[in-house]
Amino acid sequence: MGKLDGKVAIITGAAQGMGESHARRFVAEGARVALTDLNEERGERIAAELGGNALFLRHDVTSSADWGRVLQETEDAFGPVTVLVNNAGILGPVTPTAELGEEEYLRVCAVNQHAQYFGMKTVIPSMRRAGGGSIVNVSSIAGLVANVGAPNLAYVGSKFASRGMTKLVAVEYGPDNIRANSVHPGYIKTPMMVEATDENGGGIADAVPLRRMSEADEVSSLVLFLASDDSSYITGTEQVVDGGLTAQ
Ligand SMILES: NC(=O)c1ccc[n+]([C@@H]2O[C@H](COP(=O)([O-])OP(=O)(O)OC[C@H]3O[C@@H](n4cnc5c(N)ncnc54)[C@H](O)[C@@H]3O)[C@@H](O)[C@H]2O)c1
Repeated sequence: MGKLDGKVAIITGAAQGMGESHARRFVAEGARVALTDLNEERGERIAAELGGNALFLRHDVTSSADWGRVLQETEDAFGPVTVLVNNAGILGPVTPTAELGEEEYLRVCAVNQHAQYFGMKTVIPSMRRAGGGSIVNVSSIAGLVANVGAPNLAYVGSKFASRGMTKLVAVEYGPDNIRANSVHPGYIKTPMMVEATDENGGGIADAVPLRRMSEADEVSSLVLFLASDDSSYITGTEQVVDGGLTAQ
């Protein structure tokens, strides 16, 4: 018996990093999963590896039309969606506010914030048809505190927004048995983090009480819990997975 038997999930940004890790854990726990991403080559390869309970769909999360197609194709393959993991995100440039370009600002907000709105708006009706569901919005420690290594104002603003939108949806759709929680990772070893620092995080782990960065899979354990019925009374919360970084 898997912890996600009978669940149908959409996970965005699933071609690498944490999204890939979540998809692997979800399928191992019995879910049927649509992995979505811009990166078709990697996404197709991972879905093929995961077998018949996984499907890759090319998806730009900033496009509402893409969201409509992704929902339709997921429902056609697996039935109504019961889990949405809004994971895709970008950092944008490491820049102080006065030098942050308008286009860069808007792009980061489009991927990290507006896409989570498109995702919830698109998938909530499907969850209602299914009799309930669980939404996991991936924010960041940058959605809790203003600057623990945050790259720019757009990243911080979009990650705070994710946390707030999550709470409202939890309140609005609790009566429909739809839960929503935000996840706030600290320093996690993924291509995004390696790109921003180096293989060892450029020494940033020294500031973490546990004195190390996290593996992606350690975040997947939390996301799996929130997606599963083990968290059946948990909604509207922010879940921190940061090795104690923001406790200081
Ligand atoms: N790595 C960290 O330390 C860390 C910390 C806090 C929060 N986060 C958040 O966790 C999430 C996952 O991060 P990661 O480190 O795995 O990143 P990553 O860069 O390794 O992977 C992100 C994936 O999202 C995809 N993506 C980007 N823009 C997209 C778009 N418009 N449409 C569809 N897919 C798109 C990319 O192709 C990529 O496969 C992000 O929201 C990120 O902000 C990461």
